[in-house]
Amino acid sequence: MTDQAPTLTADSPAKINLTLRVTGRRPDGFHELESLVTQINLCDIVSVTPGADDRITLTCDAPGIPSDATNLAVRAAEALRAATGARAGAHIALRKRIPAGAGLGGGSSNAATTLRLLNELWKTGLSPAALSEVAAQVGSDVPLFLHGPQVVMRGRGERVEELAHHIALWAALLLPELHCATPAVYAAWDRLATHPPRPALADVLAGAGSAARLMDLLFNDLEEAALAVEPKLADLTRHVQDVTGSTVRLTGSGAALFRLFDDAQAAARFALRVGMETAVRTDIVALRTR
Ligand code: C5P
Repeated sequence: MTDQAPTLTADSPAKINLTLRVTGRRPDGFHELESLVTQINLCDIVSVTPGADDRITLTCDAPGIPSDATNLAVRAAEALRAATGARAGAHIALRKRIPAGAGLGGGSSNAATTLRLLNELWKTGLSPAALSEVAAQVGSDVPLFLHGPQVVMRGRGERVEELAHHIALWAALLLPELHCATPAVYAAWDRLATHPPRPALADVLAGAGSAARLMDLLFNDLEEAALAVEPKLADLTRHVQDVTGSTVRLTGSGAALFRLFDDAQAAARFALRVGMETAVRTDIVALRTR
């Protein structure tokens, strides 16, 4: 009798950037950020199984997701082997619920979950700090998913500080079928070079008890750049503002938009209204507090 190969499985949540301040451009072309980020209860599921040989393989239940080394989960597995000298193979299976290319961090989250699971499966024993360093090599948004559920992310994304008091709100998500390429959005930010005054992080956190008050304090420095790169997104945000009288914010470099609410019912009413008026796909999610 042979032992069944163990499969390790975990949720891989999406995120939204509640605030995103670009504080400068770095010599390596990346940008320095300060961003208040929350995980949300929209999750992919990642499973890892020991490989029959030393290859890293990946399958995914959603079309259009690459299964080669351009997939961040595969890159994460390879980075973990490079960092530890592990030689084992693995099979990674992704069950996708998070739309790709939306600024919801699905690929980065899958990479972080893969790192955690393979560190266990391969018994590579990296400490949380060492795992976070490997995560930063894989992508700017990967380390934040090793922490959380609510964090302030700084630098290129490698400095992550957990929030002491969690924000327990709901969000209506707008998921237009538009794609903003992250490098193009940052390039547009470089061209626009605007530095509007923004509320301090402490003031934003002080307003986090009420969704309406918090929405007035939230900002995303990449928003103007993303709307310039994808004018249809600018049309959509204007349309939503016209029909609901409410603003929506962009997450990351887009193209998903969100508005926060105190309860699920209010989020659902807004999502229904926007869905009917714009035919854009919507969803309702809770901000993760644990
Ligand atoms: O690190 P990641 O692969 O997510 O970055 C994708 C692209 O986004 C980079 O090539 C860069 O153009 C831009 N970027 C940036 N500054 C960051 C994060 C991303 O300029 N902090």
